[in-house]
Amino acid sequence: MPDITELIRMATAARDRAHAPYSHHPVGAALVTDEGDVYTGCNVENAAYPLGSCAEQSAIAAMVLGGGRAIREMVVVGPTDGPCTPCGGCRQRIREFAGPQTRIHACNEREVLLTMTLNELLPESFGPENLNQR
Ligand code: THU
Repeated sequence: MPDITELIRMATAARDRAHAPYSHHPVGAALVTDEGDVYTGCNVENAAYPLGSCAEQSAIAAMVLGGGRAIREMVVVGPTDGPCTPCGGCRQRIREFAGPQTRIHACNEREVLLTMTLNELLPESFGPENLNQR
């Protein structure tokens, strides 16, 4: 199981491959699954601005492609010294594959700045188990 320092290193390496020519705000994410596999992602922007995708989103897509389905922990690294917290849409994307106590760490390239559970990021959230209820 990779430790947090290793996850920060991997998220930073992913961030450094981001395609963010419009916002100049590169972001990297590294997640570890319940099986201990690590997947990374970066934001990929587009000249048609709304079509850009977030780092968390691409890490989740890589996880699904790799067969992973349960996020144990996620690290997000932005371009500044301050914390880069997931956007609202990504909170919901993480929700699909995480439990309420799953930890999300907003980091800079050196250290963890903020650790939040998914439930703190997205309380009273809507998820797969809310579908098809009587
Ligand atoms: N962004 C992410 O990739 N993840 C976050 O947690 C926050 C924002 C991206 C989206 C966009 O490409 C750029 O950062 C500026 O919003």
